[in-house]
Amino acid sequence: MDAIKNRRSVRDYDLTKKVSYATLVELCRYAESAPSARNQKGREYIIIDDEKVIAELSLVSKGSMVLSKCNTVLAIIGKNREELSTPQMLDQDLACAVENVLIAATSMHLGSCYIGIHPIEDRVAACDEILGITGGAHTFALIAIGYPLEETVFYDKEKLDEASIHHNRY
Ligand SMILES: Cc1cc2nc3c(=O)[nH]c(=O)nc-3n(C[C@H](O)[C@H](O)[C@H](O)COP(=O)(O)O)c2cc1C
Repeated sequence: MDAIKNRRSVRDYDLTKKVSYATLVELCRYAESAPSARNQKGREYIIIDDEKVIAELSLVSKGSMVLSKCNTVLAIIGKNREELSTPQMLDQDLACAVENVLIAATSMHLGSCYIGIHPIEDRVAACDEILGITGGAHTFALIAIGYPLEETVFYDKEKLDEASIHHNRY
């Protein structure tokens, strides 16, 4: 539970340290443990540790510039919707996987940052081109992963505004 409360977006990484490939595969396992509509298995993953590819991805949007300060990225890929049983739910399936990765990374004392790609079409097209994605699949999100440069300073303020909780009806 602490990993959920302590998760924060990390934007500065120690580039002298690398997350092992095996750890990144383990993060994909956590991602795939997320629920999916009718268990449709519409997710794929790309582990990226090639500096050139990361540099290209960092230029996709203003928000993706944080990638220039990390050495590992996990791309969350949505499969071709035409091949899925519940294509309308694919985005939720993918977002569930992203959150699992962020929480799992926190529990492994790794930093992470969600970089939003889908549904902004030019970002999706740019990532798909860089990553060589074809066949109707698409980039949903990128996640920066790495060892935080500094120990994360957790906000000590409560994030939940209790006014956002309603009881029985809105
Ligand atoms: C859908 C989505 C897209 C995001 N895109 C970016 C992004 O492009 N670049 C970035 O630095 N952070 C991005 N973030 C991270 C948010 O800025 C961050 O979660 C928010 O400021 C709250 O901070 P925290 O994660 O430390 O609690 C994104 C988060 C979400 C959920």
